[in-house]
Amino acid sequence: MFRLDAEKAHYKTVSLFRFALKMPFGKSIIKGLYDYQSPKLERKLFGLTFKNPVGLAAGFDKDGKYYREMSVLGFGFIEIGTVTPKPQDGNPKPRLFRLKEDEGLINRMGFNNDGVDALVERLKKFKPKDVIIGGNIGKNKVTPNDEAINDYMICFEKLFDHVDYFVVNVSSPNTPGLRDLQDKGPLTAILSKLMSLNNAKPKPKPILLKIAPDLTDSQLDDIIDIVEETKIDGVIATNTTISREGLKITDERITEIGNGGLSGKPVKARSTEVISYLHQKSNGAFPIIGVGGIDGAEAAKEKLDAGASLIQVYSGFVYQGPELVKSINKALANA
Ligand SMILES: Cc1cc2nc3c(=O)[nH]c(=O)nc-3n(C[C@H](O)[C@H](O)[C@H](O)COP(=O)(O)O)c2cc1C
Repeated sequence: MFRLDAEKAHYKTVSLFRFALKMPFGKSIIKGLYDYQSPKLERKLFGLTFKNPVGLAAGFDKDGKYYREMSVLGFGFIEIGTVTPKPQDGNPKPRLFRLKEDEGLINRMGFNNDGVDALVERLKKFKPKDVIIGGNIGKNKVTPNDEAINDYMICFEKLFDHVDYFVVNVSSPNTPGLRDLQDKGPLTAILSKLMSLNNAKPKPKPILLKIAPDLTDSQLDDIIDIVEETKIDGVIATNTTISREGLKITDERITEIGNGGLSGKPVKARSTEVISYLHQKSNGAFPIIGVGGIDGAEAAKEKLDAGASLIQVYSGFVYQGPELVKSINKALANA
């Protein structure tokens, strides 16, 4: 699979896996292989009960096409999206690159997705019994930033009955100008509006904010203030980085690949630093979901020790396969 174009390999792997699940006893065999269970792993957070703290990060299942299959692999939670109000193609291909030497990925997918209505139809058909489902929401590329708030409101309202928690994504580097929404003014406006919609519901749902690893300390201080002011439930740290520092691949290759967000091992240390900063500076005032370069039990513990309450994986899962989820959960249960 690693010889194929990275995006094609992604779809092929999931299709093969879907096929395996349909074989006689496929589901129970795969569950038996990968779904590690222990009551010690249970976490209660934002009023939700997670059977374990290991989640699948956003972007893997942007359209709710794979969470049924992924729920067999032992994840405690699966974050679907980023979804936008209208369908959009994303950037031209190729837009996903493997950096094998660095155990990283660079992507400039650009929120390719079928739109929120299609996602809602899929979510209506299946809800896994014991896996928490998150909805990661964004804005369409054609929506100007001063109207972005409407896109977040549309996704929030349409998804409300179909997900367990929300993530406001203003940190992808692949939608021009999106990360400007991380500034205090626009971010406070978006989150306050969503919180007022949320608080008008009979049973509000947790709302989290996903941030970039490229924020400065003073921007992180702003994030702490904004969480306090808007009273959202927590932060996901972090998304991919635009930095290319410390990579083993050649400069020529970096230039050839071009723009995009870097994930996996190269973002591991910075993401832990951001978690640690937020946790310490806020005196643990809000829960943090740690994500970035988790490639094994040790990296998972590093994030939890830095102050994360839950963790998510993406690139590590691509490189290591489903064994990763099991090995982390096993180590945490036996710690
Ligand atoms: C191909 C790809 C697509 C992604 N798409 C999204 C996305 O749509 N929304 C989002 O919030 N994060 C997205 N991410 C970021 C991941 O959720 C995660 O925050 C980041 O990759 C760091 O984790 P990792 O090092 O375990 O991959 C994407 C990452 C990759 C590699």
